[in-house]
Amino acid sequence: MDQPHSDALVFFGATGDLAYKQIFPSLQRLAKRGVLKGPVIGVAKAGWNLDQLKERAKDSVAKHGGIDPEGLERLLSVMRYVDGDYGDPATFTQVRKELGEAKHPIHYLAIPPSLFGQVIGQLKVSGCAEGARVVVEKPFGRDLNSARALNAEIGKVFAETDIYRIDHYLGKNAVQNLIFFRFANSFLEPIWNRQYIESVQITMAEQFGVQGRGAFYDGVGSTRDVVQNHIMQLISNLAMEPPPCPDVEALRDERVKVLKSVHALRPQDVVLGQFAGYHDEPGVRPGSTVETFTSMRLRVNSWRWRDVPFFVRTGKLLPITATEVLAKLRQTPAVFSDENTPPNYIRFRVGPDPMIAIGASVKEAGDGLRGHMTELAAVPRPDAVNLLPYEELLEDAMRGNPVWFARQDYVEESWRIIDPIFAQPTPVHEYTPGTWGPQAATDLMNDFGGWQDPA
Ligand code: BG6
Repeated sequence: MDQPHSDALVFFGATGDLAYKQIFPSLQRLAKRGVLKGPVIGVAKAGWNLDQLKERAKDSVAKHGGIDPEGLERLLSVMRYVDGDYGDPATFTQVRKELGEAKHPIHYLAIPPSLFGQVIGQLKVSGCAEGARVVVEKPFGRDLNSARALNAEIGKVFAETDIYRIDHYLGKNAVQNLIFFRFANSFLEPIWNRQYIESVQITMAEQFGVQGRGAFYDGVGSTRDVVQNHIMQLISNLAMEPPPCPDVEALRDERVKVLKSVHALRPQDVVLGQFAGYHDEPGVRPGSTVETFTSMRLRVNSWRWRDVPFFVRTGKLLPITATEVLAKLRQTPAVFSDENTPPNYIRFRVGPDPMIAIGASVKEAGDGLRGHMTELAAVPRPDAVNLLPYEELLEDAMRGNPVWFARQDYVEESWRIIDPIFAQPTPVHEYTPGTWGPQAATDLMNDFGGWQDPA
């Protein structure tokens, strides 16, 4: 069924960090391509006016991707601003006024999760929710129970089909390509299972710290910030079965089924860390034990993956910024010495500089059967133009296409896996900034050949 295209975009949190780094650059591109129909209404409580928000938008695009005069001009011409408290009905009366004739607005909540419920309630009372969709930022809840409660609250106002739980990882071409590459290439599928793959490791490393987001981050921590969402999305795409038909819900079903087969975490499967000096970050509570590093071993108990461990590590202030998946194949029988034929692997570099590489042994030149590892690599075409993740996802949401959004059952499965970490106190080990986290995380992989650090 054809979905109506949104005819207004309201975004809450317009003066915030996310809007500055990601949303304005995406809106500029959407404006340029004529995707924005109707007004773009920023809402925040900052004591600002429209001119200040426009200045912020200009500054944002200049710093993040560059100004496109035509796109920026179009964006600025449709921008509106409402300043006010999210608890004050007058704020929403004003939003309703700015919506004018719009019949299918989309409300994007780029605000802290604790405010979702309040804003949703006010959208209803003010009439702003009629005919509307809502886009909700991650993390959706902070555990299974709160995710259910939040969903129940949103469900009083919006139908499931109008709720778009956003996770910008799903808007990344390299993340979508995990599915495409797997199912579009006949050479991969026969080996993509427990018979050939020995282990899978996922590293999402960030060289930077909490970057002034201490107050937000300290309420979340690395597990809720990126594992419950971004990393689970990677795992779903890596481990899912092919959908039976090219249908949006069929694909979403398969992604949920993967999570259903993942065991809930046990204490021995998890290592948490906090970088030394975290307490000096503005906004961080004294004595906070919030983790800035998470490492875990996940057990995917499916026909395809049983006994193939999926290892994860992510953290702030690690040696480099890179997100990579490495699927290690089993060692060949020892015709040559193992040292000459290390196991093959398939490496998906998700970012920066996405690529897919197959690690293979080739014979050294000269006498004797000695080898070395080389990579057969696929890199994006030089003229490839990617959409920005938020550009793609906001466009999908405005067109009413939920394919790259998390369904509630998906969110709940993801929390089910993660929840035990927080059900009892899990030790948080201190690590030195610039290292690969606590020693215990390194030890987690001892029996599987260790982590391969992204270069
Ligand atoms: C965000 C997290 O969702 O993702 C940040 O809140 C993290 O803490 C960011 O740095 C990483 O996104 P990307 O696209 O830069 O890998």
